[in-house]
Amino acid sequence: MILCQISDLHIKRKGALAYGRVDTAGYLARCLERICALRPLPDAVVITGDLVDRGDAEEYAHLRELLAALPLPHYLVVGNHDSRQALRAVFHDHAYLGPDDGFVQYTADLGRCRLIVLDTQDPPHSGGSLCEARLDWLDEQMRLAGEQPVILAMHHPPFATGIAHMDAIGMPGTVRARLATIVARHPNIERILCGHLHRPIQHRFAGTLASTCPSPAHQVAFDIRPEAPSAYRLEPPAFEIHAWLPGEGLVSHLVAVDESPGPYPFFHPDGELID
Ligand SMILES: [Fe+2]
Repeated sequence: MILCQISDLHIKRKGALAYGRVDTAGYLARCLERICALRPLPDAVVITGDLVDRGDAEEYAHLRELLAALPLPHYLVVGNHDSRQALRAVFHDHAYLGPDDGFVQYTADLGRCRLIVLDTQDPPHSGGSLCEARLDWLDEQMRLAGEQPVILAMHHPPFATGIAHMDAIGMPGTVRARLATIVARHPNIERILCGHLHRPIQHRFAGTLASTCPSPAHQVAFDIRPEAPSAYRLEPPAFEIHAWLPGEGLVSHLVAVDESPGPYPFFHPDGELID
């Protein structure tokens, strides 16, 4: 089982640049090309929120067009920039999104693992939340999963990162604590895969590993000073691969989108180390 994770696409309407500078559509196209060239191909792709930038139907239509280049099952997660209603309207054939305007929460069978997607939106706030109804649903899904390894996916990470301006629009400690009580009861939760931070960050959470994924486009600037301004950089874009290795379990890799020089051999054809 190979699950690819991409996050925070921030697709705009055609021709528009994010923040007047970032061609998020072009970046996504390059990322999808890279994913499609992987061997073996991932079994599925989960996109952990901020699918589009302003949540309007025109942006989702543009995203849909771009995702046509991805011939793999892909699962959409809502972030604070998304609109549940517009997403469902444009991706009407993605039955797992559900038929109404309720939370975008669902499960998907990935073979060895089960994907459980949570909706951390809390409009009109940019921060994330999980109410009792969403947490009760998770509890029930974990009961149904039994012993099967589970990958949770959601937009807002359940931990503070030290990037103050992002933590200010993170998940409140009270919500994290309620989620932690559920997660701690289920050692078969292998990962909590998140977005929102536009950078790769890991944290131990309630006995499992919670992480955030970079964006295929702009990354939040690394700055852990309390006074860090809200800013982004065009650092090398990347995505993540979470692969289930028999006898080992889930192993996670960060993969750069852009080609780099190489691959170069370590050894001569006769087996000697190149010196
Ligand atoms: Fe984002």
